Amino acid sequence: MAPLSLSLSLSLLLLPLLFLLTPSPAAARFTCNAKSRATTCQALISYTPPPNATTTLRDVRTLFQLRSHRALLAANALPLTTPQTAPSPSPIRVRLPCLCSGGAGATFQRPTYTVRAGDTLDAVARGAFAGLVTYRDIAAANNVSDPNRVAVGQDLWVPLPCSCDPVGGVGVVHLAYVVPAGSSVAGIAEEHGTTEQTLLQLNRLPDAKSLLAGQVLDVPLRVCSSAISSTAVDSNLRVPNASYILTANNCIMCGCSSNTWQLDCQPTQGLTSAVCPVAKCGDLFLGNTSVTTSPASPCEGTACLYAGYTNTTSFAILTNLTSSSMCDAAGLSPAAQPSHSSASGLGLPALWSWSELVVGIHIVLLCLGFLHRD
Ligand SMILES: *[C@@H]1O[C@H](CO)[C@@H](O)[C@H](O)[C@H]1NC(C)=O
Ligand SMILES: *[C@@H]1O[C@H](CO)[C@@H](O)[C@H](O)[C@H]1NC(C)=O
Ligand SMILES: *[C@@H]1O[C@H](CO)[C@@H](O)[C@H](O)[C@H]1NC(C)=O
Ligand SMILES: *[C@@H]1O[C@H](CO)[C@@H](O)[C@H](O)[C@H]1NC(C)=O
Ligand SMILES: *[C@@H]1O[C@H](CO)[C@@H](O)[C@H](O)[C@H]1NC(C)=O
Ligand SMILES: *[C@@H]1O[C@H](CO)[C@@H](O)[C@H](O)[C@H]1NC(C)=O
Repeated sequence: MAPLSLSLSLSLLLLPLLFLLTPSPAAARFTCNAKSRATTCQALISYTPPPNATTTLRDVRTLFQLRSHRALLAANALPLTTPQTAPSPSPIRVRLPCLCSGGAGATFQRPTYTVRAGDTLDAVARGAFAGLVTYRDIAAANNVSDPNRVAVGQDLWVPLPCSCDPVGGVGVVHLAYVVPAGSSVAGIAEEHGTTEQTLLQLNRLPDAKSLLAGQVLDVPLRVCSSAISSTAVDSNLRVPNASYILTANNCIMCGCSSNTWQLDCQPTQGLTSAVCPVAKCGDLFLGNTSVTTSPASPCEGTACLYAGYTNTTSFAILTNLTSSSMCDAAGLSPAAQPSHSSASGLGLPALWSWSELVVGIHIVLLCLGFLHRD
């Protein structure tokens, strides 16, 4: 702890100075103004493996010192059966813990890099870590006075930029993204489901023209909303679009899709119930939805949602039984379409709206991912 905070504060002292001496396009750290003095969260790094070599998932895991292969798969929405020898997607997203300290964020303790013969700090920063840091960041974080002189075998902490700050009052996951040549702020914003204005503000860019290729951009990713209780161990679980997460000792798998922006959690398939407690809301299992067929309230659906897990006295999975109108969700409320129940008889229009309703419910279920997927 002590050497880390020491080097962190030292690097923070040095950073403004370095900026003055040599203007660099790359932001050394992202702004991280978390309320408490030292806040951690999970952040994402977008890493582009070297183009002309085959990089496997295991190589990525080794470089970033990830404890779990499954977490790497989850961050990239890859099937849980994907082997470590599979080639890495490019870019690939790496989830790492982020520490906010002194108004800036850097990945916490990880990754470290062991210097090999012939390495320079610049090669480590631009080569091994694909420009996510500069040699100055590494030098400052490790108290290296002469970047040209690093000892073979020396372990360097590579402080990748990250943040835990909410954006626009909403919790997000921050992605560190190296700007590819030829891209625009508008294009990056669209690709990541955010706005040009948000990116400019967050990265303190005066205008879209000041974007530089190779710059490390702080891209906030919207996350799926959930019913997770603030007292749960995983209360700060944040899952961005096109990814999933394994939580509650891997017993629960939660996905996020931009179709609904609702966290979709189910018991992880293939794990035995001996390890994992049963997750139910009364008669409903976690992930199940029941839709009432009563004509009085034909749209009422009840879902058993994941509400986190506890581990104080024992390991238990919390659930939240939630009722909501399934029709409104798809904009198919019968009340909104009164024309069908008008003049021309009773039987047919009633049948019509009923079949529409059934189709509507199926669309909603499909969106929510409750119907069978592959
Ligand atoms: C990588 O491969 C491409 C073609 O496949 C080639 O044009 C390029 O020069 C190669 N780059 C390096 C650094 O070897
Ligand atoms: C950093 O390096 C300087 C000079 O080499 C040394 O005086 C100082 O004690 C070092 N600080 C840490 C935290 O290692
Ligand atoms: C969500 O992810 C999908 C699949 O990668 C992508 O096509 C879509 O654009 C993303 N939506 C947002 C809002 O990021
Ligand atoms: C269930 O979730 C909803 C929405 O997040 C929340 O308002 C409600 O308090 C939760 N109920 C329980 C019993 O935790
Ligand atoms: C619960 O806590 C105990 C002891 O602190 C730990 O050994 C166990 O792995 C925890 N279980 C989960 C599911 O986090
Ligand atoms: C309800 O949940 C159980 C356990 O997750 C699952 O096996 C079952 O297929 C679900 N049933 C429906 C109708 O979704």
